[in-house]
Amino acid sequence: MQQVVEPPAKAAVFLVLTVNAGSESDVLEVLADAPGLTRSVSFRAPHDGLSAVVGIGAHLWDRLYDLPRPVGLHPFEEIVGAKHRAVSTPGDLLIHLRARRADLCFELARHLVARLADHATVVDEVHGFTYFDERDLLGFVDGTENPEGADAEAAVYIGDEDPAYVGGSYVLVQKYLHDLDAWNALPVEEQERAIGRSKLDDIEMADDIKPANSHVALNTIEDADGNDRQIVRDNMPFGAVGAQEFGTYFIGYAADPDVIEEMLRNMFIGKPPGTYDRILDFSTAKTGALFFVPTADFLEDPAPAEPADAADRDTPADRTTTDGSLGIGSLQHTNG
Ligand code: HEM
Repeated sequence: MQQVVEPPAKAAVFLVLTVNAGSESDVLEVLADAPGLTRSVSFRAPHDGLSAVVGIGAHLWDRLYDLPRPVGLHPFEEIVGAKHRAVSTPGDLLIHLRARRADLCFELARHLVARLADHATVVDEVHGFTYFDERDLLGFVDGTENPEGADAEAAVYIGDEDPAYVGGSYVLVQKYLHDLDAWNALPVEEQERAIGRSKLDDIEMADDIKPANSHVALNTIEDADGNDRQIVRDNMPFGAVGAQEFGTYFIGYAADPDVIEEMLRNMFIGKPPGTYDRILDFSTAKTGALFFVPTADFLEDPAPAEPADAADRDTPADRTTTDGSLGIGSLQHTNG
């Protein structure tokens, strides 16, 4: 598996790239080498937790692999509410680098992009940092209610629902810019009502006083049986003071992308419609893209996983071609 579940990062680099037509086979080689490049950098600082997660967008998937798309993989569809819009922007590859030191993320980003230089274009690059006690630039502690341990793994890793891609995951990213002048002009009590938690000590409001348009209320969702639908987030603040750019890079992982998309529908359209997320009055989504996160094994050797229970399933063996080989060896490199 790629290391999706990590303690909150101290530093992160987020790269979104588009892949040039005709560069598919070169990109496959770089993807196969990504775990090795990560080891080259992380082994020099073994206690600083460098990790890399690579995600693949739906259009690139079809260009790279002659394999069925993972069940949940599709281009992110923009979500348009009465007042705010979750845009969909181009992205073939996502590279999410995390470490306890910014230099490790920078070094690995440099090597990966050097390898991709003639084959892909970096369309968005964000370097995130830790801001005091895990706060975002709105000043609130961000990440508290993330699931942990086995709950986190159950939330993010694909299981039997898509046997060919067990151990994979999905990741959705959005780059938000904040109007900090407007936000900081709000009294703290009103900011707290927008988030649904207290600012200084990060305590959740009781359900009977938490506003329906608060961020926490709209992002607490359940399935039909009353089970929490959860994602794992690792948002990072970023910014540039000269340009007065203040942002949150949202990144959410889930075994089923519909969980993240349901949260986004709640935030942007509102639940009920019109009750949209108050933080959107101060935060604008500038990007939005969905990616599939294959296992590390798949990156090195693209083939569907062997289901544990092969009976009654559309297994790779069912797709045996007439020449007796599995129809999974041929990778499409040309149809860009
Ligand atoms: C909770 C900030 C975007 C999903 C929170 C909390 C903060 C926060 C401060 C409360 C503490 C916590 O539990 O982490 C932000 C900011 C965002 C942003 C600044 C961007 C401007 C998003 C998006 C999603 C999302 C786009 C989903 C698609 C969640 C969830 C929770 C949460 C699931 C936990 C709710 C709970 O169970 O209490 N966020 N968030 N957030 N956020 Fe966000």
